[in-house]
Amino acid sequence: ESAFIHRFEPATSAGSAPLLLLHGTGGDENDLLGLGKMISPGSALLSPRGRVLEHGMPRFFRRLAEGVFDEDDVRLRARELGDFVSESRQRYGIAAPVAVGFSNGANIAAALLLLKPDVLAGAILLRAMVPLSDPPKAELGGKPVLLLSGQADPIVPASNSARLAALLSQAGAGVTHKVLPAGHQLSQADVTLARDWIGNIA
Ligand code: MLT
Repeated sequence: ESAFIHRFEPATSAGSAPLLLLHGTGGDENDLLGLGKMISPGSALLSPRGRVLEHGMPRFFRRLAEGVFDEDDVRLRARELGDFVSESRQRYGIAAPVAVGFSNGANIAAALLLLKPDVLAGAILLRAMVPLSDPPKAELGGKPVLLLSGQADPIVPASNSARLAALLSQAGAGVTHKVLPAGHQLSQADVTLARDWIGNIA
């Protein structure tokens, strides 16, 4: 059993995709519940806490430095998270979720798309970067992905998010990439765009 501390909130309206909420470094399972409700009111919410600690701050995989990832750990943790999602789907009786990940949570969601494409129905990647330098050939079969980047993001260079968009498109995902007048932090535009986007894929 892949035990993640997590929160689960059942759906309050039928027919909206469940969301897998993945917080940023130093966050926890409570962080994105409000965002999830704004993006898709009525969706079931599955929100795990990252199991890696960096100076006490929860994350979803190890890094060697900011923007430099321990890629063996990325692979291991993506598998572990994929198993958690499968177990949770059985336990709570939910469909494959759409990931909503911010920062480190967006990066593990991107890894999950590339390593275990069946786990997610789609993904909203907020301030994501390329999670693996040499990803396997994935077949994403038109899975919808919304990538929202910050024009002035000091952590994610524009070239990196463009590379991620290209990587996911080449793997067959239906990628929408928008660069917002923002930094690494989320803005109101992220919420609005994510809400409109998810309303159109469901
Ligand atoms: C990461 O480590 O995943 C990225 O640097 C984003 C972050 O968590 O700061």
